[in-house]
Amino acid sequence: MELNARRLEGRTAIVTGAAFGIGYAAAERFAAEGANVVIADIKGHEEVVERLLMTSPNVMALRIDVRDDDSVAAGVARTLERFGSVDILVNNAAISAELRPTPFEEQAIDDWRRVYEVNVLGVFRMCRAVSPHMRRAKWGRIINLASGTAFKGAPGMLHYIASKGAILSMTRSLATEFGNDNVLVNCVSPGLTMTESVAAADHITGHFQDFAMSTRILRRAATAQDVANAIFFFASADSGFVTGQTITADGGSVFH
Ligand SMILES: NC(=O)c1ccc[n+]([C@@H]2O[C@H](COP(=O)([O-])OP(=O)(O)OC[C@H]3O[C@@H](n4cnc5c(N)ncnc54)[C@H](O)[C@@H]3O)[C@@H](O)[C@H]2O)c1
Repeated sequence: MELNARRLEGRTAIVTGAAFGIGYAAAERFAAEGANVVIADIKGHEEVVERLLMTSPNVMALRIDVRDDDSVAAGVARTLERFGSVDILVNNAAISAELRPTPFEEQAIDDWRRVYEVNVLGVFRMCRAVSPHMRRAKWGRIINLASGTAFKGAPGMLHYIASKGAILSMTRSLATEFGNDNVLVNCVSPGLTMTESVAAADHITGHFQDFAMSTRILRRAATAQDVANAIFFFASADSGFVTGQTITADGGSVFH
């Protein structure tokens, strides 16, 4: 075994919401491991690709809005045209830090719809779009992003937490539907992670930081790279007999 080989050489990955935070860290790691990487986002993707191209020639920026069927279909088609396959999908795009913690009785139905459109239906749309290509290739890795809050509960974010609970369930059921075609579906569940969007959101850090830290075994702030490492595991050959599972990357706050 070649221990220093770039472990995703020849694979093509689409990472949604990859212009910032955890998605960016995963995309950067994939590119460093030799993958062709599509930085899919609705903002910031062009700038990020300019930066990544300095070290990784096989990255491409695409505007993919996971709320829009046509945008998703066009993004997958463009990926196939440029790289010839789509082997790895990271469903990372979500509405999260922009949400203000609000008691559930005061949450607007429209906010629930907005959250579900991206966090749940966006994942469904992306999985549906890559499915024929991964099935035909008899190889695929889908990695979904949930949240530790879906296990432990937290006040003020019922719409978001419900959407992440859906992701845990979808991961298991998608794994059963895709298994015969060697498409593995797994999930990474971060705890509070200091991405740019979270660090800039006082309404989130003020509300959750002490709570998150007090329940952690590893008492330090989590970085986007901490989560990207778990995402990479599910993209790599090392997880070839693992499907329908969730790794909670939260410093030991949740056990399951
Ligand atoms: N950071 C945390 O504390 C934390 C904790 C638990 C779970 N998570 C989950 O991890 C993932 C990444 O978190 P983050 O903090 O890096 O998020 P972030 O807010 O920094 O990045 C989310 C990205 O998604 C993109 N996006 C939003 N709507 C989109 C759409 N319609 N189509 C395509 N892209 C869209 C945004 O432009 C952004 O680049 C999310 O799924 C989040 O729910 C994060």
